[in-house]
Amino acid sequence: MPLPSLLQAPEVRQLIQLLRDKGLTVDEDDPEQMAGLLQTRLAKSLGISADISDMVPDKVIPNLDIAGIAQYIQEGKAKRVIVMVGAGLSTAAGIPDFRTPGTGLYDNLQKYNLPDPQAIFSIDHFRKHPGAFYELARDLWPGNYAPTTAHFFLRLLEEKGLLLRCYTQNIDSLEELAGVSRELVVAAHGNFSSAHGIDTGVAVPVQELQNAVQRGEEGWAALRSKWGELVKPDIVFFGEALPERFRRLLRQDFTQCDLLIVMGTSLVVAPFCECIGFVGDSCPRLLVNRELVGLESRGAYRGFRIGEERNYRDVFYEGDCDVGLEALCKDLGWAEDLAQLKAIGPVAPHRQKSSRAVGSSGGKLLGAWFNGHWGAMHLALAVAAVISPIAGGIALRCWHALSK
Ligand code: OAD
Repeated sequence: MPLPSLLQAPEVRQLIQLLRDKGLTVDEDDPEQMAGLLQTRLAKSLGISADISDMVPDKVIPNLDIAGIAQYIQEGKAKRVIVMVGAGLSTAAGIPDFRTPGTGLYDNLQKYNLPDPQAIFSIDHFRKHPGAFYELARDLWPGNYAPTTAHFFLRLLEEKGLLLRCYTQNIDSLEELAGVSRELVVAAHGNFSSAHGIDTGVAVPVQELQNAVQRGEEGWAALRSKWGELVKPDIVFFGEALPERFRRLLRQDFTQCDLLIVMGTSLVVAPFCECIGFVGDSCPRLLVNRELVGLESRGAYRGFRIGEERNYRDVFYEGDCDVGLEALCKDLGWAEDLAQLKAIGPVAPHRQKSSRAVGSSGGKLLGAWFNGHWGAMHLALAVAAVISPIAGGIALRCWHALSK
């Protein structure tokens, strides 16, 4: 059956509608996207699933392990790497994930007396009881946590010119703090970088919200009176649409991806979790996680076939992100590079662009060092300015240059 008439079949119309309802962009004029999207589910709805999904292509990497992925990268086959991450990336920084029994956030919200744990991120609950989210936001507000080894690995991928994009579900902005360029990060569930009124959508300076949240109920109540509505950071709550940038870049990125790395996520929240199925059939996929997730056999859309005989491209590293990525870097001969980036440390977000502008690798490192130590630099210059007029003059000029 030619593709256009296939698209009119009622089962297919239903499927397309389902995907659109989940916030995905479905372009019916793009035969490649159609074929990719529909392959598994369409085949199933037409009763021919066995014919298609049982075909096993040849392995796309020599061995389905970390060494195999390292070899694939070393052979220059991974030029456009997408990394999809979740809360497990930041647990080593001291931020709990959501669903790990006992330590996950959803097991530790009793004091808020919620109807169910996810209500903390529900817009209806927020309207009625804003205090719970505001109190949590005070703890989660970026600034208290430092990037992990895994975050610096993202930066290393960028420095190597391999990172096409990092899609993160996290709201901690640690990718940026590790020095990954803002344009290479898609905050699929938003973050604390901006804020809006929840009724009119008016933009509110985020610093105002942060100050209010730090002051507790008195602060956020005053902010509400000032703006005539509740104000919330641009974190995506349940029931809200994902950012337009996520949907736009998703389409352009995933079809060209030649290596997908997924780490620290339970892959249970749609539409994010479905993205693992959007890469092409020949794209290897590496999952670094404490547990197996996103399995096709458990219903994940074009999910991982880890542990199955018909697996020809999926690799699972069972364990902590930091450990798995250190193992990968060792196999790649990148251990020293990773250690250097970690030694440089976090980058001040507002100074990020200038370090990218420095051309030579030596200059880059120097720029990065300045970024990593910007707080200490300002302090040292301030002290110099106080103790000596000459040093003070030089200090002021340096200060001015650093602050540009
Ligand atoms: P989850 O808490 O659902 O999953 C975290 C996953 O990371 C689990 O599989 C853990 O076993 C694993 N993990 C934890 N620490 C790890 C470590 N150091 N190394 C490797 N793996 C580790 O978190 P997410 O998948 O990010 O949405 O949750 C997705 C979304 O659900 C969140 O963005 C949030 C939440 O509701 C919104 O708030 C909209």
